[in-house]
Amino acid sequence: MAQIQVEGLTKTFQIAKRRAGMLGALAGVVRREHRELVALDAITFEIGQGELIGYVGPNGAGKSTTIKILSGILVPDAGHCEVLGFVPWRERRRYVAAIGVVFGQRTQLWWDLPVVESFDLLRSIYHVDDASYRRTLDEMVSLLDLEPLLDTPVRQLSLGQRMRCDLAASLLHEPSLLFLDEPTIGLDAPSKLAVRDFVKRLNRDRGVTVILTTHDMDDIETLCERVMVIGDGRILQDGSLADLRERVSPERRLIVDLEDPEVTLDAPGARVISREGPRWELAFDPRVVSPAQLITQVASRHAVRDLFVENPPIEEVITEIYDHGGLAS
Ligand SMILES: Nc1ncnc2c1ncn2[C@@H]1O[C@H](COP(=O)(O)OP(=O)(O)O)[C@@H](O)[C@H]1O
Ligand SMILES: [Mg+2]
Repeated sequence: MAQIQVEGLTKTFQIAKRRAGMLGALAGVVRREHRELVALDAITFEIGQGELIGYVGPNGAGKSTTIKILSGILVPDAGHCEVLGFVPWRERRRYVAAIGVVFGQRTQLWWDLPVVESFDLLRSIYHVDDASYRRTLDEMVSLLDLEPLLDTPVRQLSLGQRMRCDLAASLLHEPSLLFLDEPTIGLDAPSKLAVRDFVKRLNRDRGVTVILTTHDMDDIETLCERVMVIGDGRILQDGSLADLRERVSPERRLIVDLEDPEVTLDAPGARVISREGPRWELAFDPRVVSPAQLITQVASRHAVRDLFVENPPIEEVITEIYDHGGLAS
């Protein structure tokens, strides 16, 4: 059974076209000219219990708007949306007790309070009983290494520390579904790793469904089995990372280090992408020549020091999708 069902979800914002001219402003005349910006254009998808979904797209694609509707903050203009059996914006109070939400760009913690006091406040807001609160808090403190932060006012935390605390805060009431909107934005590398590791465990060990928006392709590559690509308010692709690669371009890469840097590589069925000294990077279509065939060909013609096959970077795959507006329906 789907935990999240979204059908034809549409959201349009009215934005001011232009300000009143100087004369109009002096005369106190405001010209109300608006234009419509379609942030979400009839998006449809389903998400099952326990999935870890990457929701990716460039800035302005509609990711946050989707998360805001799914978490009951915004009301759509059209379409249906049911999450955990709730219509998010209709039964908001009961609904928010069942979900967790983190927005990377802002905190749900009280700026001037020590972290642990924010947690206590959230505990009472969500009516979490003492025993489960203790248990969950202990777990979060140990998983996210929060002990040294608990008595620090939120405003003194680094972005990475704050994000770890926000993650804990969003889970104190043990929701089965977690929305993360750009949880790694602006974080340094170790903090990113900590966040990814935590999210992965949360999903794997506790079966929490996670919808994660990001424009960081490493997040996707390390975390997500399923990826939904959004561009200009439309879902361009929805599938596994492997599906995405396959649909966009089945091309793979072969990197070859030759013993002799002077030699010109001869590799039938492959295309040279780059060469740096003895290192050659080739692209090939596995439907035309298999990796094994290609490697055999190369090895029979040249003295090879090392070689390996890899996928094109996911950035390239996604860029391809944006540029061509999605290839599959
Ligand atoms: N409150 C708002 N008023 C007007 N336009 C908005 C508002 N929120 C978002 N938008 C516009 O809707 C589009 C989608 O925004 P958003 O969902 O925030 O994108 P993303 O999170 O993918 O970067 C953008 O063009 C953005 O400028
Ligand atoms: Mg956003």
